[in-house]
Amino acid sequence: MFDVKKIREDFPILGREINGQRLVYFDNAATTQKPQAVIDSLVDYYQNYNANVHRGVHSLSMEATDKYEEAREKVAAFINAESSDCLIWTRNSSESLNLVAYTWGEKNIEEGDEIVLTPMEHHSNLVPWQEIARRKGAKIRFIPITSDGLLDLTEIEKIINDRTVLVSVVHMSNALGTINPVKQIATIAHSRGAKVLIDGAQSVPHIPTDVQDYDCDFLVFSGHKMLGPTGIGCLYAKKEILETMEPFMTGGEMVLEVTYEKASWADLPMKFEAGTPNIADAIGLGAAIDYLNELGMDNIYSHENELTFHAMCKFFELQSEGVELFGPRDENLKGGVFSFNVPDVHPHDLGTVLDNMGIAVRTGHHCAMPLVKSLGVAATARASFYLYNTTDEIDVFVDALREAIRYFRHGS
Ligand code: ALA
Repeated sequence: MFDVKKIREDFPILGREINGQRLVYFDNAATTQKPQAVIDSLVDYYQNYNANVHRGVHSLSMEATDKYEEAREKVAAFINAESSDCLIWTRNSSESLNLVAYTWGEKNIEEGDEIVLTPMEHHSNLVPWQEIARRKGAKIRFIPITSDGLLDLTEIEKIINDRTVLVSVVHMSNALGTINPVKQIATIAHSRGAKVLIDGAQSVPHIPTDVQDYDCDFLVFSGHKMLGPTGIGCLYAKKEILETMEPFMTGGEMVLEVTYEKASWADLPMKFEAGTPNIADAIGLGAAIDYLNELGMDNIYSHENELTFHAMCKFFELQSEGVELFGPRDENLKGGVFSFNVPDVHPHDLGTVLDNMGIAVRTGHHCAMPLVKSLGVAATARASFYLYNTTDEIDVFVDALREAIRYFRHGS
């Protein structure tokens, strides 16, 4: 049974008061809170078996190596990767995307080639492609979106064509919550000989993920958005693709043999992991995966789907106050991300007033500046949920929002 009251007890920070009010943490698309088990796993590493990995024959180093590689296996199994060799540690989704752009992209993208994205990409899945397109003389094309924030696939056969080398698409939008049909897109892209990258930064934490079912060539995601520590992220890629890619960074750990003149590369996954890695945070992400598996990703999705439905009904009522909600209106087409605007009230002012009432939301362009501009606003306020949030918290947030609107409109 998914007992949210009991789950909340695992997250010490949720017991905090902010400005004298019980914390309502609705900024989960930016980063999630950490359960005690993850915090303990970090302390346990530093306190009991802190050592470098893959280098020593002494007990501490072997213990650290085992735990570190165990974590890789847990994450690989979590996304149903065919092998843990296909799971490369990075710092975050942005680094994973840059790794693909600078290695696979450098070798495979040529003048006149096309890279297909969606207009709802956040900057990490836009800027690295802009850069490589500029360097190589390639072109970026976008699958359009409807006014409801859904991908418009009517023209997709024209947009993904024989010139397309890569389709890089966000699975769940961090600004609109839209869940995109990545499997369908992968089938179309592959039929044209293009590779497919899924940006799973917002989806892997919330939706059961299966890279073999999606048949994606690459998947990127970040540990800190799924209960793990900051500074640890992942790149999954099909083994045959990783084997053809050059290293992103060179140096220690990633070599097989070195002379004064040249070097050869270690096997996967270490070929892509130069230097002492982020051992503690990889182990911490392993602990986060254990926690998520214990709850069950299907149960997490169902709980968040209920929250999304509840919030959707509330936002429908808020229309009478002029509140404008962006993105899909159907809880089965989106995750728990609600970007909204209150006419004549700047989102930063709204965010500050909500913070005074203990409620944390993000305001701004959400690292998706072109998308937010296309909505006709400079910024939005965004509430985003995770597994420990409740319908009661949504009610508290909506009441606070009504009070804030009254304050800005009537000064009381
Ligand atoms: N991309 C993160 C967010 O949506 C930082 O807040």
